[in-house]
Amino acid sequence: ARDRAHLVVADDLSAVARAAADLFVQVGQSSAGAQRRFAVALSGGSTPRALHALLGAPPYHDAINWAAVQLYWGDDRCVPPDDPESNYRMARETLLDALLARGDLREEQIHRMPTELPPQEAASAYESQLRQAFALETGQAPRFALVFLGMGADGHTLSLFPHTAALKVTDQLVTVNFVPKLNVNRVTLTYPVANNAAHVVFLVAGADKAEALAQVLEGPRDPEQFPAQLIAPHDGQLSWLVDRAAAAHLQPGAAG
Ligand code: 6PG
Repeated sequence: ARDRAHLVVADDLSAVARAAADLFVQVGQSSAGAQRRFAVALSGGSTPRALHALLGAPPYHDAINWAAVQLYWGDDRCVPPDDPESNYRMARETLLDALLARGDLREEQIHRMPTELPPQEAASAYESQLRQAFALETGQAPRFALVFLGMGADGHTLSLFPHTAALKVTDQLVTVNFVPKLNVNRVTLTYPVANNAAHVVFLVAGADKAEALAQVLEGPRDPEQFPAQLIAPHDGQLSWLVDRAAAAHLQPGAAG
């Protein structure tokens, strides 16, 4: 059934992170119980750091069945895995290294994008990994239990930046996207993959996101300009967890 998106306005980034950690535990308990496999796609940038810090420590850490977790990435930069720009490295530093050191997680449960490869090879390799891991038939998309997304001040999400080619890619699970304004290639899941997830959760914090958030949630439909508008799970729950600063330009009473 198509659930209505829901918006939570929390006081600040740490409150957003707590709401996201609560969701991780909830969704994990409902999905890992069933198939004992809880496939999660992590996002990059800086916002997820606060969430990762919570997940790696009590009480959240102890409420998660880490043995069932399979971690993937929504996107990454075309840099080696130990590069300061790497979303994978950020996750290692803020969460995964501690879980691996404690034996909560095994390397085999961590599926990073092989961004040390040339971009097209990295995208193709990751697509094959997804097809194999989710035992997909041709034309099928993986169904993640949970996809975390961020949103840039320009309304981009994943590495789907305004007016870039990847916005139109629907026949691949993973694609290379050249981002002119950054003059870099990125490897990203395509939006149909996010839209096939059971839960998609945006974490958005900071005043610099307020204008884009209002446009994405309340402005005219213009996904070329505001790619986050492409995200609409066709059989799943969409949640926006935002802080008061990012929600500043929303209509009063928008939360619910
Ligand atoms: C990335 C992310 C990107 C991010 C937004 C928000 O690779 O940078 O996947 O989509 O979520 O840019 O980034 P911040 O959380 O740093 O604001």
